[in-house]
Amino acid sequence: MTSRADIEVRPVDETGFADWNRALNTGFLREPHSSDEVIEARRKRFASHRLVGAFDAGRCVATFRSFPQELTAVGGRTVPADAVSSVTVSPTHRRRGLLSRMMEQDLAAAKERGDVVATLIAAEYPIYGRYGFGPATTTTEWTVDVPRSGLDARWAGPEDGGRVDLLDPEDVRKLGPELHDRLRRSRPGVIDRDELWWQLDTGALRFHGTWTEPFYAVYRSASGEVEGMVSYTVDDHWGDAKQPLNTASVRWLIAVSPAAERALWHYLCSIDWVVKVKSGGRAPDDLLPLFLPDPRAAAVTTQADWLWVRILDVVRALEARTYEAAGSLVLEVTDGGGLTGGRYRLEASEDGAGSCTPTDANADLSLEVGELAALWLGDESAVRLAAAGRVREERAGAARQADALLRTSRRPWCPDVF
Ligand SMILES: CC(C)(COP(=O)(O)OP(=O)(O)OC[C@H]1O[C@@H](n2cnc3c(N)ncnc32)[C@H](O)[C@@H]1OP(=O)(O)O)[C@@H](O)C(=O)NCCC(=O)NCCS
Repeated sequence: MTSRADIEVRPVDETGFADWNRALNTGFLREPHSSDEVIEARRKRFASHRLVGAFDAGRCVATFRSFPQELTAVGGRTVPADAVSSVTVSPTHRRRGLLSRMMEQDLAAAKERGDVVATLIAAEYPIYGRYGFGPATTTTEWTVDVPRSGLDARWAGPEDGGRVDLLDPEDVRKLGPELHDRLRRSRPGVIDRDELWWQLDTGALRFHGTWTEPFYAVYRSASGEVEGMVSYTVDDHWGDAKQPLNTASVRWLIAVSPAAERALWHYLCSIDWVVKVKSGGRAPDDLLPLFLPDPRAAAVTTQADWLWVRILDVVRALEARTYEAAGSLVLEVTDGGGLTGGRYRLEASEDGAGSCTPTDANADLSLEVGELAALWLGDESAVRLAAAGRVREERAGAARQADALLRTSRRPWCPDVF
């Protein structure tokens, strides 16, 4: 076995890209070699990203990629994030500390650059807590049993004067970015989508060998404003007695008004032949079930952690968001990674603004930096974490008070995977 010191961890440039891509495919258990077209597409997509590889005797055996991202905090301000992705270690080189080496270097560089948080979507829950990440949003998927939903199957379009139209991929590239930008400025947990994201989603840039064009539809309000958009696919399933039993699977659905959400869900549930609608990943408090006369027709089929956040700068993270109540709280934050631990006083004022300063005062609540990430976007409850022994109340009632300040009336939502 090669010793740890003989494996070199270093940035990957143009010349090493195909080898890095092969290692990436291997780690994700995909066909190791990609076509030239796919390699070219990935090279283009990752051109501005930070690519790192680990090399054993010149061969890439581990991959890591990070890139600049904007994450919306509670209240609508965005923070600069270090988005982490393409994390793999080949099965021949696992458990030798390669992930730790790549992650520690990347987080230190992100801190140095001034990023407020790092983010990722975890393949497995147990991997990233050790690096100070905590689960900060939850994803919920529903499957709607359309005939049981109680919706009017004869629905012919929105009753509010708005309309639903099908879109071609090039229209999505024109109309989607602005709609998404409006969404992300109003919804904590949403991350930015750049132009290449839209190209990939609409087949203009292809990451995989095959591309099947999905359906796209838009909702416009009575005044003609684009307020919602959906992308979905439909399978081809017929029952034995020659009944259509198709399932529509939502790839993504974004909306900036409840009217648009209502219209697009109703649209999906009224497509002829479709008897099931799979919602794709939503926030746990999504409006979908409430739009159905019989909400039990929407069964939760997945519920899991989604966006993981690693706070790199407690002061800037806490000052970037707004608060639900006025109050003051002293947090003792432990950070095993040594990036942002300390004792901080959070002061939230009546207008929702927060200030955060290092302090020597007695702590009200002690917690690991990963638990703070779980509270930061408002998804988790401090009372719940205290009951589970994952945060400690140093003053009776502090967890309840933390919830009054930090929890939000709507849960955060990260619609994308990266
Ligand atoms: C997950 C993966 C990247 C870990 O790589 P690795 O180089 O073996 O990790 P390291 O040796 O640096 O492990 C660091 C620590 O994390 C632990 N760890 C690593 N992977 C883990 C897992 N899947 N579950 C639980 N613990 C894990 C190790 O045991 C080690 O703990 P220790 O320091 O207490 O001994 C690798 O197994 C892999 O590529 N898996 C398949 C692809 C994948 O899931 N990638 C993540 C995408 S989000």
